[in-house]
Parts: sequence; structure tokens; C-alpha cells
Amino acid sequence: MIIGTQILARELPSLLEGRTRERVFIVVEEQVSELHPDLFALLPEVLPQAVIRTLQGGEACKTTESLGLLWTWLSEEGATRRSTLVLIGGGALLDLGGFAASTYMRGIETIYVPTTLLSMVDASVGGKTAIDFLGVKNLIGSFHPASEVIVDIDFLRTLPLEELLSGYGEVIKHATLMGGEAWREVCRIGDPVGLMDEEWQMLIEKSIAYKTAVVEADPKEQGLRRILNIGHTVGHALEAYAYQNEFRRTLPHGEAVVFGLIIESYITMRQIGGNKEYIRQLMTLARDLYSPFFFTCKDYPELLRLMRCDKKNAAGTITIMGVVAPGDIQPVELTDEAKIKEGFDFLRETFGS
Ligand SMILES: NC(=O)c1ccc[n+]([C@@H]2O[C@H](COP(=O)([O-])OP(=O)(O)OC[C@H]3O[C@@H](n4cnc5c(N)ncnc54)[C@H](O)[C@@H]3O)[C@@H](O)[C@H]2O)c1
Repeated sequence: MIIGTQILARELPSLLEGRTRERVFIVVEEQVSELHPDLFALLPEVLPQAVIRTLQGGEACKTTESLGLLWTWLSEEGATRRSTLVLIGGGALLDLGGFAASTYMRGIETIYVPTTLLSMVDASVGGKTAIDFLGVKNLIGSFHPASEVIVDIDFLRTLPLEELLSGYGEVIKHATLMGGEAWREVCRIGDPVGLMDEEWQMLIEKSIAYKTAVVEADPKEQGLRRILNIGHTVGHALEAYAYQNEFRRTLPHGEAVVFGLIIESYITMRQIGGNKEYIRQLMTLARDLYSPFFFTCKDYPELLRLMRCDKKNAAGTITIMGVVAPGDIQPVELTDEAKIKEGFDFLRETFGS
């Protein structure tokens, strides 16, 4: 991984120069190219041999139509098995492009240039690629790790606040998993808006290094990697519920994960014991960063149903990775529905709902 500020126009050509690939294809997310016109005017100059195109990004791009578009483009432009596909955009574009690359001629190499905080610390690491299908998120996908990732902090400059704070939810999740100094650091930082580039770089580097180590130990999600799912069983249910019901407000992914972490940590504490101080610190962070997500006990049955649908569950049981304390994660089987409801109550009571 290469990380820095305003490094793309310099690092990408030198990275590609050092390789013996035949051709280079670059897909730039349209929104990003519009927000960084100088950088993208420079790319054809520094990479005259590359074939460059833009593509609309965001979740709506993870479709079979966009996939077909990329396959057609690669084929018509003469991409071969020894070509490289460079993807510059948010997590959705990386997921789509990564899947297109993993299937084109049975797999060509990719270089990721993530442009959102979430895609820097999460989507660009671990090799998962996917598109959404039949209304199910990430239903079709593959494992196809990027050969290289270039993280240019400068992209964060144009990221909307909501997207920045959503990505920060994953930084908080990684700090919880790392525990120790990493956790104390996010507590000390509180609201990350206004962090200096060097501070962002350090935070992002640590987050990526942590996820990389977990993924290397368990590339196909057979065991250890499941710890990366903390907060996600409840978080996904909240996120899906807000989305399906055009709820009182949308709930960005990373924010849903933090709310999920609060609820899951409360349930863990009630079932197997846990660190109250961690929950208190997490609540303080969440209050600083996010506005309340209002729901009532009438919403509980549907939230429970969505939790049961989670693809990580074995038949009939909901098992979460519970945070006993930062750095101490244990599997917890959720057998008692009353305790899950207590967890929902806890978030509502403590978060002003
Ligand atoms: N493969 C994985 O391991 C993995 C992990 C986490 C998430 N994901 C996937 O990633 C996606 C979410 O990623 P995301 O949060 O980056 O969302 P996203 O890709 O949908 O981007 C969010 C928004 O930010 C815009 N944007 C991107 N870069 C910008 C910039 N520099 N300045 C201004 N706007 C910019 C996009 O156009 C979009 O509107 C989901 O599809 C999720 O499934 C994958």
C-alpha cells in the first residue's frame, strides 16, 4: 500500500512503470473526476499509453448492466489477460470494477485508488468484490485482491461530511478490535473533522494494517476474519430497515455499524459480561459524531427478522462477535430475544429516542 497526500499523479505512473504489464485501463468515478478536474486532466499526460474512462459510481453502479459495460469496454479496447485495471472511486466502484476484473478472461490484475474514507480503510482491503443482484446487496461476487492500493488523502477534501463520518464508523470499529492505544486514540480525537493530513494518514495506515493482518490470517473468512463483523448483525438490520422503509432518515453504513456496536456490546455485557467503560466511551463518541436514529418498540419485530436473515447466521441461531472490551472479542449466541430487545431499548434511552 502506498499512502500520502497529492501522490496519485506521481505514484501511479511509477508503480505501473515498474511492472511488465501489457496495457493499462483506468476507470475513474465520474463524480470524483468532476471534483478533482486538475488531477484528472493530468492523468492522460502522465500516462499517455493508458485507456481512460469515467463511470457513474455509488451503490447504483453495482449492477449487471455496469458489469456488462465494463466487460464490453475492456474487450473492445483490446484488454488481455496481462492488462491492468486501475479503479479510482468509492467502495461501490471498487466492488464493481474488482468483480469485472476477476471475471474478465478469468481474472486480470487490479490497482485500487479508493476515494472515500470507507473505501480506504475497508473496501480496498481484503479482496472481496461484488455486485448487487435481485435486490440483495453483494449477492454475486468473488475474492480477487487488488495487486496494489494507492491511498491519496487529498480525496477526503471533497468528501461530504456524512460520507466522512460514515467511513469513520469503520475506523472506530477497527480501533475497538485493536484495543489499547488505538482505542484510546479515537477516544482522544472524538470528532475527526479538521484533522491534519498527517493525522489522517496515521489513522488510515493503522486501520488498513490491522485489517490486512486479519485478512492475511484468514483470506476466505473461515474463522478469525469474522471478528471484522462486530456491530454488523444489528448494524445491517438498522441500515436495511431505514432503507426499505424510507425511514425517518437514511442511515449510512458506518454510522449503522456504530449503533450496531452499541447495541451488540450492551447485549454482550448482559449475556457474558463486558466492560461498561467501553460502552460509555462508545456512546460519547457516537453522540459527538452522529444524530439520533429514532425508532420505537413497534419496529422491533422487523429488526429481529432482518437480524435473522443475516447471511452470517447458521440455521436458526444468531451469533454475533461480541465486544467484551476493546481488543477482547468473543462469539455470543443470541438465544434470548428479550435481551436483544433490551439492547434496542438501551440505545433508544441513552441516545435520546
Ligand atoms: N469489498 C469490501 O470488502 C467492502 C467493504 C466495505 C464496503 N464495501 C462496499 O463499498 C460500498 C460503500 O463504499 P463507500 O462508502 O465508499 O460508498 P460509495 O462508493 O457509494 O461512495 C459514496 C458517495 O461518495 C461519492 N464520492 C466518492 N469519492 C468521493 C470524493 N473523493 N469526494 C466526494 N464524493 C465522493 C460517490 O460518488 C458516492 O456518491 C458498498 O457498496 C459496500 O458494499 C465493500
